[in-house]
Amino acid sequence: MHRALLRVFFSASALAAMVAAGAAETEGRPPHDPRAQDVVHGAPAEPSETWTIAAGGRIYDNRWEALDRPEPTTTNPAYPKTAKQTGAATWRCKECHGWDYKRKDGIYREGSHYAAIEGIDGAIGRPVEQIEAILRDANHPYTRAMIRDEEMRRVALFVSKGQVDMSR
Ligand code: HEC
Repeated sequence: MHRALLRVFFSASALAAMVAAGAAETEGRPPHDPRAQDVVHGAPAEPSETWTIAAGGRIYDNRWEALDRPEPTTTNPAYPKTAKQTGAATWRCKECHGWDYKRKDGIYREGSHYAAIEGIDGAIGRPVEQIEAILRDANHPYTRAMIRDEEMRRVALFVSKGQVDMSR
């Protein structure tokens, strides 16, 4: 269900890009049409669980795109020094844990994205509060300016309830 929703979000961001294409650029970023801005980066007053999981999934993929924040210019200090990526990519959940959530047992088990980190599929079904605490530990040096508590809760709910089996 949430994947269908994600598709809606992605086509909304395509729409936003199209609307913005004709407008002037500010700080190197095309402004969104106000209505698209709401759909792409806003939150409903009373978010449903399905909405929250989908929004969390978008943050898992790329937090600054999902939340309309500046792209990081540094390498994440928690990213293993022995692994091969640098810069903004190292702040993406999917870079360390894999887009199939299985990390070293999955699609990133070898090659340029390999980083010897566990997947997150072991956290399926865990209490959201427990996952939220993990997401503020030393392996996850995200400040609240990068991801607010309420936004981190979306990610935690996604980890607990939103992971689908990508190998099917
Ligand atoms: C720089 C690499 C890195 C990034 C980026 C990262 N993590 Fe982690 N994460 C780790 C490490 C290291 C651990 C500890 C497990 C291990 O050593 O393999 C961990 C553990 C976890 C766990 C616990 C897994 C378990 O089974 O106990 C979850 C859940 C998790 N991360 C989710 C996320 C989410 C969601 C994001 C994005 C907001 C994220 N991580 C970003 C490195 C990272």
